[in-house]
Amino acid sequence: SKICVVRTVDLEDRARRPRVAGHLILRRRTRRTWCAARVLVALSVAVSECCYFLFNLFKTAFASSSSREAMAQSNSSDGFLSQPKGFSTKAIHVGQDPEQWNSMAVVPPISMSTTFKQHGPGQHAGFEYGRSGNPTRDVLERCIASLDNGRFGLTFSSGLGATTTIITMLQNGDHIVAGDDLYGGTNRLLRNVALKMGIEVDFVDLTNMQLVEQAIKPNTRLFWMETPTNPLLKVVDIRAVSEIAHKHPGIVVVVDNTFLSSYLQRPLDLGADVVMYSLTKYMNGHSDVIMGAMVTNDEAVYERLKYLQNAAGIVPSPFDCYLVNRSLKTLALRMERHKSNSLAIARFLETHPKVERVLHPGLPSHPQHELAKRQTYGHSGIMSFYIRGGLEESSNFLKALHVFTLAESLGGYESLAELPSVMTHASVPLQQRQELGITDGLVRLSVGLEDVDDLIADLKQALDKA
Ligand SMILES: Cc1ncc(COP(=O)(O)O)c(C=O)c1O
Repeated sequence: SKICVVRTVDLEDRARRPRVAGHLILRRRTRRTWCAARVLVALSVAVSECCYFLFNLFKTAFASSSSREAMAQSNSSDGFLSQPKGFSTKAIHVGQDPEQWNSMAVVPPISMSTTFKQHGPGQHAGFEYGRSGNPTRDVLERCIASLDNGRFGLTFSSGLGATTTIITMLQNGDHIVAGDDLYGGTNRLLRNVALKMGIEVDFVDLTNMQLVEQAIKPNTRLFWMETPTNPLLKVVDIRAVSEIAHKHPGIVVVVDNTFLSSYLQRPLDLGADVVMYSLTKYMNGHSDVIMGAMVTNDEAVYERLKYLQNAAGIVPSPFDCYLVNRSLKTLALRMERHKSNSLAIARFLETHPKVERVLHPGLPSHPQHELAKRQTYGHSGIMSFYIRGGLEESSNFLKALHVFTLAESLGGYESLAELPSVMTHASVPLQQRQELGITDGLVRLSVGLEDVDDLIADLKQALDKA
């Protein structure tokens, strides 16, 4: 149709000439031009039909190759989804193009400037003020979004900063359905801060779909879930919960994907609206940055959160963005090692007489092992176990560790151990802890990248002293 328009304009041009050349010439030329136009129209129809045919041919070929890929997805040797190709290539290249910098730097530079020169008033070159946007942050946000197969990414000064910004989308009188087993800080934020803003929160066992259905109210605006949950490692069916929530227009489903990282689980592909991260953990993986992020495909949600990122000002430093961007380059390698180390440890603990029960989604004994295999590309280095006895035994065990460090947090290259009831989850009310099973005998491990034999030997000698 574009060709036709061009010819019509041409025709009009030519039609003007006879005023100079005379009536006869005008008629002959007009007839010739009409013929040419008809031939062109016929040609363009033939070409467009040809293109349509080729497009369909490619579409069918592509669809069958992606369905082959989808079928191949459950075929990885450990039973978990097998990784589609390209994750590490994206982690290394998306957003990093050297040609975006005058220097052609291969490693994106750290841009510390808080303000950016404008060509004229209001005519900036993409950046105005460091809170509203920064080149180093921009590189990271683009890379993070691509790893979750998302269109938009935003980063924040901490994981809880990302959560706060997401909650700030809500209004007085809105209702949140949250998982009952969340990071203690998220529980505290929802219970003590969101409630004071007039936002209602219900903590629900999201592994029970009947309870999920029943929890929805006319004013429900947000679903907040972690999977696997913290510290009990329950696995929530993201697709099923998203489908139930989305039967009610206006509900945004958020998944805190901190425990698995975008390498091991991609919630947007499963129907969630927003993925949230404490980048502090696996995504950075070196225990030297506090930062958070969110990724979405929903442009309206992104625009709202981008506005709030600037308006509330919960932004990260360019130096930290540089560090996390660097860390993503080895995410796949690190997660593979966390995966193999933690499974070996889970198997060892399961056979130890001083261990009552091991919670690890990679073990067939885990209640949602089959769901974990359907939904994720594997398990990370986080696991929990119940030591026989109570506070005395768990404290003796934790104090006797040498290679594992007794500390809060998780997801770094170093192995950590902690007691959730006293440490990370002390802010969860005692009654909720008791109902959930966060007892003084529940120990959480973040298995790092050390040699696995050294880790097992360390656990063995500490259990002997428990
Ligand atoms: C699952 C999970 N989500 C969110 C957070 C909060 O992140 P940050 O410490 O970066 O604020 C944490 C912190 O431990 C966490 O474990």
